[in-house]
Amino acid sequence: MGSSELIFRGHDETQTTSDAYSPKPPKPWLAVTRPIRYLLLEQRLVFILVGIAIATLFFTLLPSSSSSSPYEHDPIPNTFSHFSHELTTPMRYKYYEPLRVGFQSASSGGKIPLGLKSKSLRIVVTGGAGFVGSHLVDRLIARGDSVIVVDNFFTGRKENVMHHFKNPRFELIRHDVVEPLLLEVDQIYHLACPASPVHYKHNPVKTIKTNVVGTLNMLGLAKRVGARFLLTSTSEVYGDPLQHPQVETYWGNVNPIGVRSCYDEGKRTAETLTMDYHRGADVEVRIARIFNTYGPRMCIDDGRVVSNFVAQALRKEPMTVYGDGKQTRSFQFVSDLVEGLMRLMEGEHVGPFNLGNPGEFTMLELAKVSVFLLKKNAENFSMYELFLRSLSVHIF
Ligand SMILES: NC(=O)c1ccc[n+]([C@@H]2O[C@H](COP(=O)([O-])OP(=O)(O)OC[C@H]3O[C@@H](n4cnc5c(N)ncnc54)[C@H](O)[C@@H]3O)[C@@H](O)[C@H]2O)c1
Repeated sequence: MGSSELIFRGHDETQTTSDAYSPKPPKPWLAVTRPIRYLLLEQRLVFILVGIAIATLFFTLLPSSSSSSPYEHDPIPNTFSHFSHELTTPMRYKYYEPLRVGFQSASSGGKIPLGLKSKSLRIVVTGGAGFVGSHLVDRLIARGDSVIVVDNFFTGRKENVMHHFKNPRFELIRHDVVEPLLLEVDQIYHLACPASPVHYKHNPVKTIKTNVVGTLNMLGLAKRVGARFLLTSTSEVYGDPLQHPQVETYWGNVNPIGVRSCYDEGKRTAETLTMDYHRGADVEVRIARIFNTYGPRMCIDDGRVVSNFVAQALRKEPMTVYGDGKQTRSFQFVSDLVEGLMRLMEGEHVGPFNLGNPGEFTMLELAKVSVFLLKKNAENFSMYELFLRSLSVHIF
């Protein structure tokens, strides 16, 4: 046999190992762990969902740590029912328990899941840098709401709201309401409009545009985002009234072509639009007809009687009283008006509601107070307030 011959020796050896398949002996614990491992690795989503369900159940059943007002964090006392009888500071800011009809469900019952805050409202205040608007903003911010002021600064001033600039719940947008605007909000207080004759007669076309197109834009916004809308109308919608006092059912006696018509008729049209959006598009609306209002931040040169007297008193000038001075007017303090506006917004009634002071004062009485103030050399409105302030906001 040559050296290249292949030699196979395996035939000679005895096969000791068997080729037949022999399964490993079953491990009984694998039957339990295998589905668990499968679930852990492949069904993580199921576990997450189960976890969430357990957590939800736990927090829902957990009794609330506090059953008191959800606004308890607010250090301001709830004194609405007595606010008018507690005159202690010139500003007289009194805060009442918020009436959040329609918005309270999330926090009612005192069971707020841990880690979740009660819902605060997002509110637009057009004209919020003006006299009334800035006081309204103060109150809404103090209540815990988030406020967006929309203003073109025609008569309003940044200084009126700049104390909120560092507050994350406050935003200021320079915008003319004659142009459309889209914002996600729960409520719209629509105040944007010059209020004193000096200002609204300055550009009458712009005034009526603000009242008509501006109100249309804000109503459109309310419809689009489902917000509640409040219009600040005026007692001027009664024009030169033939009825005293004017009740809301009185339709007024208005000159449609006079120099004040841009304001009077503008506000009447704004009311019409508001009611048409309410009836035709189911927008939740409120209408306030505001009577003479006075207080800090009112424009000192707006030509209205209170500002005239205050300005003359502060400048120690002679009082200007027209006629025999026996003509009467009613005046309400601005915080009373703001209270009324907020109550109207949170209440159930559409209005229109007159917001003012039913008590009338003669111009001579007002002038006498100014003289008294002059003698006292007072430098703020507090004496006026003592004399003129209404006992409360009257919806009459
Ligand atoms: N103060 C009152 O005695 C009185 C009485 C009746 C009605 N009202 C109504 O209350 C509201 C507020 O009055 P006020 O006394 O605070 O007046 P205001 O002039 O101080 O405030 C009006 C605000 O609206 C802003 N504005 C005007 N036109 C605008 C526009 N086109 N776009 C955006 N912003 C605009 C102004 O810059 C200002 O900040 C007005 O609608 C007014 O008609 C007030």
